[in-house]
Amino acid sequence: MLGHITDPKAEAGLALRDLPEPSPSPGDVVVAVRAYAMNRGELNLLRQRPDGWTPGQDVAGVVVQTAADGKSPQPGTRVVGAADQGGWSERVVVPSHRVAAIPDNVSFADAAALPVAGLTALRALRTGGPVLGRRVLITGASGGVGIFAVQLARVAGAHVTALVSGAHRIEEVRALGADAVLTGLEGTTERFDLILDGVGGKLLVDAATHLAPGGTIAAYGMASGEKSPLAFTDFRGATNGKLTAFFVYATDVTTFGEDLGFMAKLIGAGRLRVPGPRRDWKETRQAIDQLRQRQATGKVVLTIGG
Ligand SMILES: NC(=O)c1ccc[n+]([C@@H]2O[C@H](COP(=O)([O-])OP(=O)(O)OC[C@H]3O[C@@H](n4cnc5c(N)ncnc54)[C@H](OP(=O)(O)O)[C@@H]3O)[C@@H](O)[C@H]2O)c1
Repeated sequence: MLGHITDPKAEAGLALRDLPEPSPSPGDVVVAVRAYAMNRGELNLLRQRPDGWTPGQDVAGVVVQTAADGKSPQPGTRVVGAADQGGWSERVVVPSHRVAAIPDNVSFADAAALPVAGLTALRALRTGGPVLGRRVLITGASGGVGIFAVQLARVAGAHVTALVSGAHRIEEVRALGADAVLTGLEGTTERFDLILDGVGGKLLVDAATHLAPGGTIAAYGMASGEKSPLAFTDFRGATNGKLTAFFVYATDVTTFGEDLGFMAKLIGAGRLRVPGPRRDWKETRQAIDQLRQRQATGKVVLTIGG
């Protein structure tokens, strides 16, 4: 089968080659991949694992071999799944508890965007308790995690403020249903019960100064690449506030499938949208550049076979 593999001698360090068929463990399902999404974290891994690594965590496709333990969907089922690696290929193994069936009206491309970004948004939103009627701030709202966080917070009944990097991102993020879209926190005295931050740097400091008493910041990334010069005094006004380091793979991976199924149904019901560029998988290297250069809003998704 064809699949992508890192190779320092290949153009941009990535080659599309004939690879061995995946070999499933008893708890794995084999999926014929029809679409996969890219994550910023994978761009870092491509650099860290330059020789012989097969990238790809977020996949959607059709089950071709059910798990030997009998716990996965049957062959022919359309699914979304969170693989460990190897998803930028024609076939991949995924642990059966990290797979969910998708409704007929949900495209493979939309479903493929869900695993890392959707699960991070959904589970980071849960870190601060119920958000019904609460004020939630989402930084990096135009990003992969951000687009899901804005919409899921609205589904959960929060008042959502979205923070974007510039005026060019406002309209697309407003269209996701954010109550307010800002390009900076200067000038607002509003305080937030829950803040999801994937940007880091100075933005995380600004966020801390806008945390409500008893509120929670779930810091899940630093897309800016900058460390945050945070001080205790930045939390003045946020008595008993919490700063939590959130890692999606440190949450219960055995229930990934349940949460993926929940979000796939939200897409099917028209309550969750997945903006972002769609490209043929032969353009994977160009898509990497697109993500690296911050040219896209939402999720970059590659499709196999149209
Ligand atoms: N802890 C976890 O489990 C976990 C899970 C998923 C992701 N992550 C991490 O979380 C971060 C975000 O992931 P993602 O997939 O959402 O990335 P992404 O799709 O690239 O989105 C990044 C977002 O951050 C914004 N941004 C980047 N640099 C910025 C800056 N200097 N100032 C203001 N905004 C800036 C981008 O704005 P533009 O629209 O202008 O580009 C975009 O909205 C990454 O660091 C990723 O590695 C962690």
